[in-house]
Amino acid sequence: MIQDTISREAARRYYDRLGTYQDWAGHFEGRAKTRALDLLAPPPGCRVLNVGVGTGKEHVQIEAAVAPGGVAVGLDVSPVMLRLTRARTGTPVCLGDARRLPYANASFDYLFAAYVLDLLPAPDLAGLLHDFRRVLAPGGRLVLVTLTEGVTRPSRAIIALWKLLYAISPEGCGGCRPLQLTDLVGQAGFRLARREVVVQWGVPSEIIVAENRS
Ligand SMILES: C[S@@+](CC[C@H](N)C(=O)[O-])C[C@H]1O[C@@H](n2cnc3c(N)ncnc32)[C@H](O)[C@@H]1O
Repeated sequence: MIQDTISREAARRYYDRLGTYQDWAGHFEGRAKTRALDLLAPPPGCRVLNVGVGTGKEHVQIEAAVAPGGVAVGLDVSPVMLRLTRARTGTPVCLGDARRLPYANASFDYLFAAYVLDLLPAPDLAGLLHDFRRVLAPGGRLVLVTLTEGVTRPSRAIIALWKLLYAISPEGCGGCRPLQLTDLVGQAGFRLARREVVVQWGVPSEIIVAENRS
């Protein structure tokens, strides 16, 4: 696994600049996110935290699913991304870091994070997953989507090329590199319910569904 990634400030700058162009990634991430939202399936009335909410494209669907009576909160490190989410939704948004969630224990029933953990430094991931578990209620559901290792010949070739580009310029790849998260999720005290890999245009994405055991 590649260990390095970009700093929080570099990520903020990158995603502030990227703005609505982030939605273009839907061409190779869209299918995995649609599947992940199906697996999240938050019912009306529940509380959802969407970490690294981005432009709010998926958040619109989460907001609709929890109505009436629920709340869908979007957190992001990029003020531009939060502005785009606010323009699309009426939900609360929060400028913050995925690694230091500003919420009390058991504040949410569901936590969704798509293509965020793959931007963060490997040494931060164990602590981050413990914090995700802390803010989830007992029995709460975690759904993660990340770039992952290839599972077919084309996807293995694309990931090999991606790693080459990443080695030259992590910033050029938006800090994103492939991850495999099942072990870390288990070590953080979650019960792994499901793992799937979705490949779109040769790009492999891992979907993890886990439950907070505490
Ligand atoms: C690849 S985009 C994914 C956005 C959205 N989840 C999606 O799937 O379209 C990554 C998002 O994570 C945000 N981000 C990056 N580092 C972060 C951090 N440390 N804490 C919270 N959000 C972060 C970026 O600003 C960006 O909006």
